[in-house]
Amino acid sequence: MPQTVLITGTGRPYALGFNLVRRYLENGDRVFASIRRPSEALEALQKEYPDQLHILTMDIASTASVNVAAEEAARWTDHIDLIINNATTASADTMKELPDFDLDLIAPAVNVGAVRPIRVVKAFLPLLKKSEIGALVVNISSEAGSIGRCYRTFYLDYGTEKAALNMLTMTLRNYFRNDPNLNIICLHPGWMRTNPGNTEAPLDPYEHAETLRLLFETKRHDKDGPVFITYSGEAYPW
Ligand SMILES: NC(=O)c1ccc[n+]([C@@H]2O[C@H](COP(=O)([O-])OP(=O)(O)OC[C@H]3O[C@@H](n4cnc5c(N)ncnc54)[C@H](OP(=O)(O)O)[C@@H]3O)[C@@H](O)[C@H]2O)c1
Repeated sequence: MPQTVLITGTGRPYALGFNLVRRYLENGDRVFASIRRPSEALEALQKEYPDQLHILTMDIASTASVNVAAEEAARWTDHIDLIINNATTASADTMKELPDFDLDLIAPAVNVGAVRPIRVVKAFLPLLKKSEIGALVVNISSEAGSIGRCYRTFYLDYGTEKAALNMLTMTLRNYFRNDPNLNIICLHPGWMRTNPGNTEAPLDPYEHAETLRLLFETKRHDKDGPVFITYSGEAYPW
């Protein structure tokens, strides 16, 4: 049965969000793809899949923008079966260490990378609650958010936002524990070639998006399995 999916951060054709959109469309699903600025690539996809793809403008840094997008989605659908919180950010100082890092950049990054995905869940919760197949929320995290495995001396913003996203995921997991119709996980997706300059990463985002799509279906009703997982579905240390 086709499902209705919301994916954030979908405007870059070489990145994960856009390729997840492609995979869900190819699977026959209906997709709300969110962007904060126009994307020619997504508009081209919209022409290919006019009945399945709905582009939502949503700057997740803005509560008002998220709420307006949720209202717009509710005019097009009465339910959402899957939210993939993919959008993220990192500051210009992300590769710097303490002496050179402007610490004031951490809080805005945590806001976009951790708090705002939960704002998206909150705003779209009425639609998630109406899923007939059981709703799933996937927060795209990173191994960089693992405190137990932290080895870096940089990523002060990015690591902190992903660790915070993991904590928020677990807290919501507890909140939804007795709801058989709603599940939430966070994922380390692996190292992907999502940047045109990066040829070293082992994973192609289009190929990998299908691996993730299939993985997510195994997690929809898995209330007892690991919450922070790798793309193979194994537990990753918090
Ligand atoms: N790439 C990897 O190897 C890797 C490894 C581990 C984890 N991850 C995680 O996987 C996910 C996808 O990675 P990626 O490399 O494909 O990401 P990316 O290329 O950095 O794309 C991030 C997306 O988030 C959007 N975004 C940023 N701030 C936003 C805001 N305020 N409102 C709405 N959208 C916003 C960007 O939109 P604009 O295009 O408008 O800037 C962009 O589309 C991310 O969560 C990342 O942390 C990636």
